[in-house]
Amino acid sequence: MAARLRRQFLCLFAQEHTDLRLQELKSIISILNVNVTFNEADYTNKSPFLVLSASSDEEVQSIARRSVLIKSVYQLIGRGNCYDSLKTCLMGLPTHVMEPYSKPGYTFCVRVKSFNKKLNTSYMINAIEWLSFLPFAGKVNLSEPMHEFHLLEDYGERQDKPPEHPKQIFFCKLLSIGQRHLISTYSLRTRQFIGNTSMDPLLSLVMANMAQVSPGKLVYDPFAGSGSILIACAHYGGYVLGSDIDWTIIHGRGKSSRSSSAGKWRGRHESVRNNLSQYSLEHQYIDMMVSDVSNSVWREKEIIDAIVTDPPYGIREGLRCIDDTLTSKEEEGQLKEIKYNLSAVIFDLLKLSARLLVKGGRLVYWLPFIGDKFDPSYIPKHPSLSLVSMSEQCLSQNFASRWLITMEKTLQFNSSLEKDLVHPDLTPFDDFREKYFQKK
Ligand SMILES: C[S@@+](CC[C@H](N)C(=O)[O-])C[C@H]1O[C@@H](n2cnc3c(N)ncnc32)[C@H](O)[C@@H]1O
Repeated sequence: MAARLRRQFLCLFAQEHTDLRLQELKSIISILNVNVTFNEADYTNKSPFLVLSASSDEEVQSIARRSVLIKSVYQLIGRGNCYDSLKTCLMGLPTHVMEPYSKPGYTFCVRVKSFNKKLNTSYMINAIEWLSFLPFAGKVNLSEPMHEFHLLEDYGERQDKPPEHPKQIFFCKLLSIGQRHLISTYSLRTRQFIGNTSMDPLLSLVMANMAQVSPGKLVYDPFAGSGSILIACAHYGGYVLGSDIDWTIIHGRGKSSRSSSAGKWRGRHESVRNNLSQYSLEHQYIDMMVSDVSNSVWREKEIIDAIVTDPPYGIREGLRCIDDTLTSKEEEGQLKEIKYNLSAVIFDLLKLSARLLVKGGRLVYWLPFIGDKFDPSYIPKHPSLSLVSMSEQCLSQNFASRWLITMEKTLQFNSSLEKDLVHPDLTPFDDFREKYFQKK
């Protein structure tokens, strides 16, 4: 059988969370098992464009149907570093490329978009008219065209000082838009139940993509809070369960975290289960448990496909665990909480993941950091887990950032693996809180 010819496609990323975009794309390609490739050396966080290679439109469209950091994907028809070179490229196309659009009976439209420079309407109309040498035979339909073409002008990296002419121009056919609409679907503003540290919906969806959640997978968040990450995992078809040390958050009690209801008690409808029902995802919900990660309720059984979580950093919520050293008669039956440091939290999370994840299962979590330079050697290790990727998100205060860490379980757990594992006493993370609130 003849191999299918590979063609070029264009991916237009959103210019936000730029450090996470490439990792999300790679993870989605791996989940979908599609043969879509790109030259990593062509990628830069400063540009929204990346050329992809694939043998079918469907493979590229399937990526856009999952990604929240991709705006749209295109069939790349021609490109140039000026309008003359673009014309030479388009005039030299084999006839079969434009043939489907050269027959009457089709409707189409052309839109002009730019990166890092605002274009006025007359400029855009001129650019569209410039394309009149192309053999379009159908009728223009701006509202519901059968085919939508984009002329994408790239003015380079400096928004404050764009050059007069674009540095490169792409002419392409729109294939699919990404899942950016999910950001408003799952907005925290309209969610029934939120907590003080509810994870942003966009980042929750990226985490679910990094964890490779897919229909039927069992997903667990051991620091679940109001369950934002679980919602994103349920969106991709995962069966979700969570736990948290805080009884009030598990039961939706306590004072509301919404500024418009400041000081008021939470209502009966405020719960993780109801959040999932709000999005018609209740059938994906398993349950929530009260559990301390340092003293987990789990049996050692490798049954979880993905652990996706945001551990406490001690900024807006306390770092605490149950004191299991209580021995005296009076203390029996009491649960006393003591302080927990960040390195211990991560150490316990890794140990829990090594015990619960199936082989090939993923752990995705945020690791906060303040310092001059983040060194990958800081990332806590476990012999059962291998690092897949690390991507930075800058935070607003004191040069703080957090790193999205993705690990994969590569070795089946057995306790001898932990014989040389020592509890890190002081890692670069334990003074995160102090440095975060330090006055400059
Ligand atoms: C950053 S918040 C997670 C927020 C959550 N992602 C959400 O969307 O609401 C961390 C959570 O960890 C919980 N936590 C703190 N110490 C814990 C422990 N030792 N075991 C389990 N949960 C703990 C806190 O109660 C808090 O809800």
